Amino acid sequence: MFVTSYEGSHSPIMTQSFRFAHLSDIHLPTFISDGTNPVDFLNKRFFSALSWFGNRRFIHLKTVSDTLVGDCLKSAPDHIIVTGDLINLSLPGEYSRATKWLQSLGSPETVSAIPGNHDLLLDNSRTRKGLAQYTPYMQGDDQGGSLAFPFVKRRGKVLIIGLSTAIETPLGWCSGRLGEQQRLALFEILQQGRKDGLCRIITLHHPPAGPQKQKKGLEDHQEFARIIAELGAELILHGHTHRSSIHALPGPTGPVSVMGVASLSVAPDKGYPVGCWHEYEVQREKGEWKISLNVHQYAGQDIPPNCIAKALLRSA
Ligand SMILES: [Fe+2]
Repeated sequence: MFVTSYEGSHSPIMTQSFRFAHLSDIHLPTFISDGTNPVDFLNKRFFSALSWFGNRRFIHLKTVSDTLVGDCLKSAPDHIIVTGDLINLSLPGEYSRATKWLQSLGSPETVSAIPGNHDLLLDNSRTRKGLAQYTPYMQGDDQGGSLAFPFVKRRGKVLIIGLSTAIETPLGWCSGRLGEQQRLALFEILQQGRKDGLCRIITLHHPPAGPQKQKKGLEDHQEFARIIAELGAELILHGHTHRSSIHALPGPTGPVSVMGVASLSVAPDKGYPVGCWHEYEVQREKGEWKISLNVHQYAGQDIPPNCIAKALLRSA
């Protein structure tokens, strides 16, 4: 990718602030009928199906994600970022439903998404075709019709960078990888974004900071960290862990915040962090970026979510 500058003809002018939502790991309900052929299940997917139909479908509830989406839309953010795992088994019917769900959030003008490991559980022509349905939400403003990462969207002084860490992994693994080509492109994007004085927000599914387990983590997290150490970023967002978390990576002028959000759909009392979405506000103040966070947690069906935490992040 050759980056010149991000003029963003589609971009609204950034006024006082830019407010955006971070949603992740929706794990929309899966049904047996989402597969079109019994052969669909004669692979790694069989074990993931056992997990979904045996247990996970009782943990990830649509009523929870619907309530949180309602709360999110009511707050009318300038943009919504979805960091992957919209579905569970990468079956044809799931992709269609997830695409409709993305459309329910808004148009690609105001919604961006990247894939998680469950969006590409197997990597073959059928899953690639399914994933391609998300394309309008997973591409830059001027990218055309193909699915390619990284993509960039500029909204005023904010640059949203979408990366894919979704790869097919062996049974029992759910790790991710950026690969050399994406890392090289990311380097150029960050360099140009810094030159243009933009608030660079990197989005990827697997956490690039914090504890890294070989079977679950980001394989090239060290290479990613080296890029951040050299060029920095204003914010890094991820999903995958199903926990809201704050970590940091060293940048050239100070630590760069790495923020994870809990799954959007986990019901209370299931032994996992309850469903959340994160609300961010970006402002430029006295030569530094001020980014505030508000955590909205599910409190019950048709009950306004609780704001359980606030944080203020700064980066020069
Ligand atoms: Fe997930």
